[in-house]
Amino acid sequence: MGKLVSISTRDNVVILEIDNPPVNALSRQLIEELSRQVDAFLDMPDALGLVIHGAGRTFVAGGDIADFERPDFSPKRLNDTLLRLEGSLRPVVALVHGTVLGGGLELAMACHHRIAATGTRFGMPEINLGLIPGSHGTQRLPRLVGLGPAADMIATGKMIGVEQGQSLGLIDAVSGKDDLLSAGVAAVKKLAGAEPRRTSALNVAATGADDLSSLEAKVAASPGQPAYDAALKSMIAARDMGFADGIGVEAELFADLVKSPASRALRYQFFAERTAMKIPGLGDVSPRAVETVGVLGIGTMGAGIALAAALAGFPVTLVEVDQAALDRGMNRVQDTIGGMVKRGRLGEAEAAACRARMTGAVGLEALGKVDLVIEAVFEDMQLKCDIAASLGNTCKPGAIIATNTSTLDVDVIAGKTGRAGDVVGTHFFSPAHIMKLLEVVRGDKTAPDVLKAILAFARKIGKTVVVSGVCYGFIGNRMAEVYMRESERMQLEGATPGDIDNVAEDPGTWGMAMGPSRMLDMAGVDVGARTVIEWIKSGEGPQDPSYRILCREMFAADLHGQKTGQGYYRYEGRKALPNPATHDLARDLAGKYGVDRRDALSREEILERLLFPMVNEAARILEEGIAYRGADIDVVWTNGYGFPRWRGGPLFMADEIGLQKVVDRMDYYARETGNAWGYWDVSPLLRRLASEGGRLSDWENGNGNEGTP
Ligand code: NAI
Repeated sequence: MGKLVSISTRDNVVILEIDNPPVNALSRQLIEELSRQVDAFLDMPDALGLVIHGAGRTFVAGGDIADFERPDFSPKRLNDTLLRLEGSLRPVVALVHGTVLGGGLELAMACHHRIAATGTRFGMPEINLGLIPGSHGTQRLPRLVGLGPAADMIATGKMIGVEQGQSLGLIDAVSGKDDLLSAGVAAVKKLAGAEPRRTSALNVAATGADDLSSLEAKVAASPGQPAYDAALKSMIAARDMGFADGIGVEAELFADLVKSPASRALRYQFFAERTAMKIPGLGDVSPRAVETVGVLGIGTMGAGIALAAALAGFPVTLVEVDQAALDRGMNRVQDTIGGMVKRGRLGEAEAAACRARMTGAVGLEALGKVDLVIEAVFEDMQLKCDIAASLGNTCKPGAIIATNTSTLDVDVIAGKTGRAGDVVGTHFFSPAHIMKLLEVVRGDKTAPDVLKAILAFARKIGKTVVVSGVCYGFIGNRMAEVYMRESERMQLEGATPGDIDNVAEDPGTWGMAMGPSRMLDMAGVDVGARTVIEWIKSGEGPQDPSYRILCREMFAADLHGQKTGQGYYRYEGRKALPNPATHDLARDLAGKYGVDRRDALSREEILERLLFPMVNEAARILEEGIAYRGADIDVVWTNGYGFPRWRGGPLFMADEIGLQKVVDRMDYYARETGNAWGYWDVSPLLRRLASEGGRLSDWENGNGNEGTP
């Protein structure tokens, strides 16, 4: 391996280059070399000063996250180096370009002067891993930019650009990328001889924006996420203490955070999302080329999918059954684009370019030339099969045919095309241009180059992918089904939708973005009920007459959620209020189906009954080889269902609670309820891992484990 850090000299100025592609991350070895080369510079008495720059497309874009997992991890080596660097009696200039993040920004701030290339972006993303900056960043940043802006950057992880960086005092000068080195050498010559301006010696910059109340509010609203509190404490230290004491406070806070459950969970998520893209058994075939996209059925989902593709630069053909439906679909897409422009999420020029990439058409023939067709017509097996047969004939040879079905058997649909190798499931989440998750359904016959093409396409449109095998509801909705079942059952027993949602949404207990009832009210009780009804009718679903009876009866009573103004809740505008009609219905159904009512269910029972059965279902999903890894399942839930990332996902959360406790409580509820329909049967994998002290989130199929991915 070549050197990661090298030095050379120009005009008596030492140039230190960091070269660790792709993003010059501060790995252990790099820190060692940096430390040695800084010392080498300090030992060159004749040198005028030092410039530090990054080779390739960026300055240092952060630390090496894998390092945090080492038991002996400590930022001390880097931090000592930064102190020696800053202590230099001769000027040290940072030349930054690309994305200057985390440890990269901390390195730049330890320098005496910062010159940025136009277009450079700066940020402290540690909070996304449940951490604060741990290499003096919490103490140097407020000294340069002021308390309020520093608190904002550290607590949100948001990046700022050159203009803002300059106006806040984070950078001293701007230069074209190609002139950066000469600007740096010139700056050293100019600064040589004068006392260096050390960030640590500055007072916290007076910006007038030193109010920490929004961070205080965030701390209060975020139990279980100690990084916010640590961010606040480090800001107070920067305000009230000298630098030496401040970095002592930071070091203690940082060391505690690295061990905190929230940070461990967030780091686990970070790696899980990357690993989920790795699909075993694909060999080294090249992906099929996808340059053009067609979407069939421009309803709720089709509109979002077409938009996601067009926003990413794909030419998209949008096809509907007739002109009126096409007009509705195109209007829907236009409205969404208009809304994005209005909210500042999309510029006028980008919006125009996106519109220009979309062409509407009536009839399947328009899809004859595209590389990838995504079908998003009604969830009706007969219709999907008819369409599959037509697409099999119409699409050009080698074109990929994807179905957005959320529950139907992808293998059956694939069979109807007469070219099952070309078919794959692409289960988007609503709204499809916003939600990160794409659950890719690998059919029995899906060709490896098709799967690879979909993974590449997903990456281009900014989605996080998890691959699922074929089963009812795939990974996500199959688990959501048992979660909804228990939510509704508890309502029959006497809990209100509000009681249940509060437990799910309270970050002190769990922290879901939305509880089960609020979620179904938003998605449409009718949509949920229809799927359940079809599933039961097919004979595959549970034949228990009381199975999800509340949702089925709400559907019959037009309590469809937000769209009808009444569902689990009653809506005044967007405000959700208790809905007596649904409470009465639950009570009546309890009477009809012989369910004992109680005044209230404890928060503990609500949590256990929502979480544990879905974890148990996940274990079955692993046993059946429907998912490759436990971590994939967690990625589905954090990216598609609003599960809090800082709890890692349902399996990580269950592992933290302890699998033996999960099993014991499942057994307890089996005894309590009589378990007539087997809802509380514990999966053998779960029972075994519990007795062996294993973890579901670590489980991988293949590699000698059971399951047939
Ligand atoms: P939707 O009812 O909003 O839209 C379906 C569209 O398909 C309509 O615009 C209809 O005109 C069109 N269509 C029907 N027959 C057609 C034909 N023969 N040719 C061309 N277009 C035709 O339905 P939605 O909600 O967008 O669902 C579409 C698919 O996506 C379904 O398979 C559904 O299960 C799935 N899905 C839905 C989600 C949701 O949250 N709504 C989430 C994930 C998947």
